[in-house]
Amino acid sequence: MKTDKISNEAQLDASGNLIHLLGLEGLSSEHINQILDTADSLLDEKGNLKKSKALDDMSVANLFFEPSTRTRNTFEIAAKRNRAKVINVDLDNSAIKKNEALLDTMLTLKAMQIDMFVIRHNQNGLPHHVAENVSGVSILNAGDGINAHPTQALLDVLTIRQIKKKFENLSVAIVGDIVHSRVAHSDIHALKTLGVKDIRLIAPAGLQHSPENCEIFNCFEDMDEGLKNVDVIMMLRLQKERMIAADIPNEQEYYKNYGLTNDRLKLASKDAIVMHPGPINRGVEIDSDVADGPQSVILKQVTNGIAIRMAVMQILAKNHRRQ
Ligand code: CP
Repeated sequence: MKTDKISNEAQLDASGNLIHLLGLEGLSSEHINQILDTADSLLDEKGNLKKSKALDDMSVANLFFEPSTRTRNTFEIAAKRNRAKVINVDLDNSAIKKNEALLDTMLTLKAMQIDMFVIRHNQNGLPHHVAENVSGVSILNAGDGINAHPTQALLDVLTIRQIKKKFENLSVAIVGDIVHSRVAHSDIHALKTLGVKDIRLIAPAGLQHSPENCEIFNCFEDMDEGLKNVDVIMMLRLQKERMIAADIPNEQEYYKNYGLTNDRLKLASKDAIVMHPGPINRGVEIDSDVADGPQSVILKQVTNGIAIRMAVMQILAKNHRRQ
């Protein structure tokens, strides 16, 4: 995978406790299950969110250098449901616009008694760089370039576990723009760590993983072939902002070959679930009938995003106080 060079080492302390969340590579199934179990404990039997006082004395700052609807708002809601104070840093009007170095901005915010920073950035490894250089705070990666989107993958596996109960015997297809997708990269680590043996990567050759990865996972260019009898279909957004025009011929052609329609969905298991991290390109990677249909769990993923982000914050807060 293109992203192997970025180290997540800084996210664990010497005793193996999670002190930042930078990526899922390097986390054990125990780490991941602790987050999933905590998230589940924050949902009642109807799937509604509970409230907590776990971050009563803490402040969380959101720094989103890229657009976001789901991740930014669910991080804010999660922090507030944990009783933290939340600051959405107005980056368009911040001193970064006057060329202040990012680390100086972070140190300045730390001096304002911020305990946790949620960072989204288009540069691979940016949250890791901050975690390595600013001590005494927790860093949560909300998506860095094409590298990782750990809380998205955690909410994805939480959703799968709630519906399918166990991971070992599942066949999971990840479909679309795999090469540019930080979601896919994190999902693959999560699914592998939790014991999924049949991970299928379905993409046109230009958007597929490296050949080495196709030695480990089951790679398909033919979507119909790859979808046969799968239990979970994880659709990906075409990352138009990260791809050069030559990667795919055009959106119509892409939809013809890789769009998830009701006809294609019939190739999967009868009770297969359909997932998508959002935002959806309707009629490009997924048909509206499928996105809004009975097998879609896309909106459940969004609600689970709050539980996962609350859980990660609670675990980091506990380990932060221990330091
Ligand atoms: N899934 C996801 O990252 O969506 P946003 O870009 O809206 O945060």
